[in-house]
Amino acid sequence: MSLFRKKSIEGIMTQASDSESGLKRTLGAGNLIALGIGAIIGAGLFVRTAAAAAEAAGPGVTLSFVVAAVGCAFAGLCYAEFASMIPIAGSAYAYSYLTMGELIAWIIGWALIMEYALGAATVSIAWSEYLNNLLGGQIPYEWCHSPFETSMNGVRGIINLPALVILLALTLLLIRGMQESATVNMIIVFIKVAIVIAFIAIGWHFIKPENHTPYLIPADAPGHGGYFKHGWGGVLGGAAIVFFAFIGFDAVSTAAQEAKNPKRDMPIGILGSLVVCTILYILFGHVLTGVANWSEFAKAGKEASVAYAIQHYMTGYSWLATAVTVAILAGFSSVILVMLMGQSRIFYTMSNDGLIPKAFGDLHPQYKTPYKANWILFIFVGLFAAFVPGSVAGDLTSFGTLFAFLLVSLGVWILRIKSPQIHRPFKTPLVPLVPILGFVICLGMIVALDPETLKVAFAWMALGIIVYFAYSRKHSKLNTPGDILPKATDFEK
Ligand code: ALA
Repeated sequence: MSLFRKKSIEGIMTQASDSESGLKRTLGAGNLIALGIGAIIGAGLFVRTAAAAAEAAGPGVTLSFVVAAVGCAFAGLCYAEFASMIPIAGSAYAYSYLTMGELIAWIIGWALIMEYALGAATVSIAWSEYLNNLLGGQIPYEWCHSPFETSMNGVRGIINLPALVILLALTLLLIRGMQESATVNMIIVFIKVAIVIAFIAIGWHFIKPENHTPYLIPADAPGHGGYFKHGWGGVLGGAAIVFFAFIGFDAVSTAAQEAKNPKRDMPIGILGSLVVCTILYILFGHVLTGVANWSEFAKAGKEASVAYAIQHYMTGYSWLATAVTVAILAGFSSVILVMLMGQSRIFYTMSNDGLIPKAFGDLHPQYKTPYKANWILFIFVGLFAAFVPGSVAGDLTSFGTLFAFLLVSLGVWILRIKSPQIHRPFKTPLVPLVPILGFVICLGMIVALDPETLKVAFAWMALGIIVYFAYSRKHSKLNTPGDILPKATDFEK
């Protein structure tokens, strides 16, 4: 049995089109763009913009957003080709199964757990922190921190209850139905985008041109000696910091099996959400660094940078500071929602392939959602959120994402060579240039992650390989091809 045995396209398409027993196709283009924006706008924008400006890019953080967006766009274009061509729920995992074989697909599925499950855990911990801020610190320390954290007064954390509560609420919503989840997501997206636009529109009048001069941090600025800490190098350093703000557009592709018209709407959802967010991010960065000077963000309120800028420089608009905190909470909620959704869909597909136990693929008899996967995920993510400090998982999320981007870029090129005849409703332009650039940029960003993150990531991947040989390989449906390989469909034209 080859480690690189692949699923056939016909098998995948039949799996995807089994609407009787499968997931329900309820999402239109608007829902998909909103899902993307739901997953994208969160801590990256509200927290990391100021951090990138203070540490590396200055007002040039706008250019950092452009660089990070271009990097994501290469991967986004590759995702769009796959998602329109193979409208199945597994995203990068499913595409790799087709192009690079079972072992690589398993590895990528395992890496995606880092992106989605750990991403959801990290953001739920941040959600708990912000809720406590909004309530003026009323939640007792021990009930909103992990046992590994101790307050300055020596109080030790017990459990992070608010993080568990938000995870439970969103899990119940996801089980209730995809359409219901998409509607709640749409409302949240509306609120957070409205507040971001309000900040941009109102803040525009408070921009002081001197805060934008010089536009890049000068080489002689104190504490900015390294290559990635000033000038154009600083713009690149800033791009690595704000990359987190773009994570999530790929989650749209996990919902491919629930899209009404995936061939047309998948590229619209993936690329549309990326474009909308990039425009908002650039404007937001321009206003934030125009209202307050970038150098202030090093000391003052990195976490609460936006509220800081409003309270100090936008007289008469203190309500906007509260609105921004609400937008942050709303933003975090939709990021968690879409991450949990994405992870459960990947589990669903892996289970249908036999690589993980059957329970992950069971659909709710009435709601047609993978409810057991949702519950198992709640326990896994909940344990993490309740008992592990938030700082641990953030960079692992970036690793999982970049790793998926890298393989999807490579996969598009491979499939163009191997199966040029397949009908592609959306075609990545300039193949192989775009996939190669996507691959190289993502590899560069992985190499730039700190060594501790890489060590933990590799340990996680090693565990994955053990699970594969101990369980998945033996249970794979490819061992009994009749289970999933039906006749050719009208897929190939
Ligand atoms: N892009 C998401 C955020 O910024 C992960 O929170």
